Amino acid sequence: MKQRRIVMAMVLLAAVVTAAGASAAVPQPPYTTIQLLGGALYFDKNLSILRNQSCASCHLPAAGFDDPESTLPVSEGSIAGKFGDRNAPSSAYAAFAPKFAFDDVNTVYFGGQFWDGRVDNLAQQAAGPPTNPVEMAMPTKAAVVARLAENPAYVLAFKKVFSITLRKVMTDAEVLSAYNNMALAIGEFERTRPFNRFNSKFDFYLAGFPVLNEQEKSGLALFNGPKAKCSQCHPSDFTFDGANQQIPPLFTDFTYDNLGIPVNPEIARLMGLPSLDPDLGLGKRKPGEEGKFKVMTLRNIAKTAPYGHNGYFKTLKDIVHFYNTRDVKQCSSVTDPQPGVNCWPAPEVIENLNQAELGNLGLSPAEEADLVAFLMTLTDGIGPSPFGLVAVPPMPW
Ligand code: HEC
Ligand code: HEC
Repeated sequence: MKQRRIVMAMVLLAAVVTAAGASAAVPQPPYTTIQLLGGALYFDKNLSILRNQSCASCHLPAAGFDDPESTLPVSEGSIAGKFGDRNAPSSAYAAFAPKFAFDDVNTVYFGGQFWDGRVDNLAQQAAGPPTNPVEMAMPTKAAVVARLAENPAYVLAFKKVFSITLRKVMTDAEVLSAYNNMALAIGEFERTRPFNRFNSKFDFYLAGFPVLNEQEKSGLALFNGPKAKCSQCHPSDFTFDGANQQIPPLFTDFTYDNLGIPVNPEIARLMGLPSLDPDLGLGKRKPGEEGKFKVMTLRNIAKTAPYGHNGYFKTLKDIVHFYNTRDVKQCSSVTDPQPGVNCWPAPEVIENLNQAELGNLGLSPAEEADLVAFLMTLTDGIGPSPFGLVAVPPMPW
């Protein structure tokens, strides 16, 4: 199983970089005009209905490119009281996800953006939030483009980069073109260095610096070993790109799995509903894949609480304990005194439950703590990456 996953990850990365071509530019300062434009857009609250929310509000650099509000499982939109139904993932390293596809050899889906891979690349992804009613909540694409036209810097940049003259009123075709190019610029910005730094303590360790302490090293050994099995889905070793250059690990093979995470009743409560239908994840659009969600990167994971597609786990300790004991301490009923503490409630979706790689790992409390210590070494920001510049796949596919 492990071999299968790692081999597949290498094939995927090879595909990424072949698509990129040897000339894949590495975004770095000085940034291109489109990247600078994307940066301005990424942080611009005017793209939301109440001019109070930008991409960065839910994907803040200082919070691991995630929602800094870590006490809620899901994010609040521009309009107070509006909540989405999934936990915001990090927008860092998302540029490396290959486009959504089916792997005929291993008969598994992989790649794509979002927890369910429903769009192929960062440009398609960035087109979603501005008009999503529970996110930035703009009524139409035309309304978004009219906001762009308010800003003389955008007017200049759109002219220069896309030969588009932004005006408050434009034809439908012009609106669509301006809107899609806005999303493209944001995607280009997400390919830049700050999102893809590869400069965590663990990167320095991989590069040969003796920076991990005994506990972190023991956590790494567990992470890679047959007992905890983490690296079977979150590969932790170098891989090779199409140009035969080493790429540091991304801690995801971009496949999909049902870990059996319980329902998070907090989400329905925030939405003001008695309950929600089970979130089928990939199964919403691919019958037979019910309950599966994308393996997410673990880079910067210490900064991106809560965890899982529904934010069920508040801490790394919680999610590691779940992997270890899901099948050991099942709650006898939903009225069990402390579900999630004394016992685990039933999986939200029972189909496709992964029983081969998690559920009863037999880890001691000290081993769980070692794994958490290791995960905490994946936070970027130690210094210039020991790997120099790592090529990021180009946009769009
Ligand atoms: C209100 C909070 C919120 C805002 C604002 C927001 N996002 Fe997100 N973002 C989310 C959530 C929640 C998801 C996961 C949704 C899902 O999977 O269905 C997500 C998913 C993503 C992903 C996919 C990451 C992956 O690995 O699959 C990227 C990239 C991303 N957002 C970038 C952006 C950009 C760019 C913007 C601005 C145009 C933006 N987001 C605005 C909450 C937000
Ligand atoms: C069978 C594949 C698989 C294995 C093995 C696995 N994971 Fe995961 N991991 C996933 C998937 C899939 C998700 C997202 C699931 C979801 O939210 O429904 C995930 C999510 C996570 C998250 C939360 C990510 C986020 O952004 O919220 C953490 C932390 C994590 N895994 C750590 C680990 C550790 C530590 C181990 C080993 C004990 C491990 N994983 C083993 C597939 C796996």
